Amino acid sequence: MARLLSCLLLLVAAVYGRHEKYEGHQLYVVAGASNEFVELEAKLDFLSIKPAATTASGQVEVLLRLSPEERNGWLNYFQSKRMPYTLVADNLADIFREEDLKQQAAKLKTSAKNGNSSMTWERYYDYQEINDYLDSLAAEYPQIVTLINAGLSYEGKQIKYVRISSSRFEDLRKPVIVIDATIHAREWVTPPVALYLIHKLVVDVTDSDLVQNIDWIIIPMVNPDGYDYSMKEDRLWRKTRSTAHEGSDQCPGVDGNRNFDHYFGTRPASADPCSIIFEGPAPFSEPETRIIRDAILRHLDRVRLYITVHSYGNMFLYAWGNNGTLPSNGLMLQVVGVTMAQAIDKLKLDKAPLYIVGNAAQVLYYTTGTSRDWTRAIGIPYTYTLELPGYEYEFVVPPEYIKQIVTETYAGFVAGARYVHSIYNN
Ligand SMILES: *[C@@H]1O[C@H](CO)[C@@H](O)[C@H](O)[C@H]1NC(C)=O
Ligand SMILES: *[C@@H]1O[C@H](CO)[C@@H](O)[C@H](O)[C@H]1NC(C)=O
Repeated sequence: MARLLSCLLLLVAAVYGRHEKYEGHQLYVVAGASNEFVELEAKLDFLSIKPAATTASGQVEVLLRLSPEERNGWLNYFQSKRMPYTLVADNLADIFREEDLKQQAAKLKTSAKNGNSSMTWERYYDYQEINDYLDSLAAEYPQIVTLINAGLSYEGKQIKYVRISSSRFEDLRKPVIVIDATIHAREWVTPPVALYLIHKLVVDVTDSDLVQNIDWIIIPMVNPDGYDYSMKEDRLWRKTRSTAHEGSDQCPGVDGNRNFDHYFGTRPASADPCSIIFEGPAPFSEPETRIIRDAILRHLDRVRLYITVHSYGNMFLYAWGNNGTLPSNGLMLQVVGVTMAQAIDKLKLDKAPLYIVGNAAQVLYYTTGTSRDWTRAIGIPYTYTLELPGYEYEFVVPPEYIKQIVTETYAGFVAGARYVHSIYNN
């Protein structure tokens, strides 16, 4: 009894200690013109952005976090700029503690039924569990799954991905589809979406044409260092954990989704190592982004669709993020995006907004060095940033929503895959 109690106390202490840094941090929704936010993004922690077309204010609305120390300064600034703001959450540390309790409960509930090659879609798994799952799946289904040990993260964790094919990637007429997830560490609901797609292509197959007609490259855990750090140390960690750049002793890590070689270094905001959108010291400075690059370049002539999975906002966004103009196939990017969005919307929860499809810069704001723009620039015709639903929980999506999100998003993948296959086989 005493032992149990002290275990519990230790657990509680761990839970409390871990989120101390967010004690008293508040969340605000701030409205304003999109250009007001471009500069602020480097200085503040934006948790999400709602496009002007979808907000009651008719302006862009940003959800951001303010620490007790910086709160008054920023609220005065918003007032002076006539940017309306609303307090939406009072203490972020409490929100994270509540999330921990839910995750603990989900873990207890699922541990009984969980073997190696099954996921329950009822809780979040750590990076080692995800890697083990990929290993055992490849061992169990060697005819269609090839596990690639693609290399090590900055801190030396294995980054694995799978190639799924009924023809061992040897039928050169098949289009290749690439999906990645977790480049942003704190977006925990993204790896289950990639893992569920693998599960539906390999284990619980209901759409056999997808593997007959298409070769798949799926990278569920791009940034294991950041993800692990987000689980154990800092729930809001977004970047990699590299320390190879100047200023990294104070501000480690690079935003992987600013680190691709497309208009890299053209925005001063992302050159600051302490900014949440720090692009890194050079394009592809991060082992994590090099792994995506190399996986794609190896089959570039066949890759037709690339989707990078993020959380959250219910959006399919396409190029060009750097200047808001459209690629030559802009109309078809919209059509394929809408095809996927509608398939998801059919299954969505009532409380979720409809998906928005559009140019990333027009819907939100300018970005450089993104994987979406880089993949489009090297010739992949259909490339998207997918922002999953967050409901009222933002990116702290409780485990009981995982099943809904993975299921509805799978329907979007199916629709997109079939459409793209039909374009290239007529
Ligand atoms: C899971 O895998 C480990 C090692 O790969 C093995 O020892 C263990 O028996 C497996 N467990 C189940 C439930 O399959
Ligand atoms: C916008 O950026 C794209 C590359 O992302 C480039 O091809 C295009 O020429 C640019 N358009 C303008 C008007 O600068």
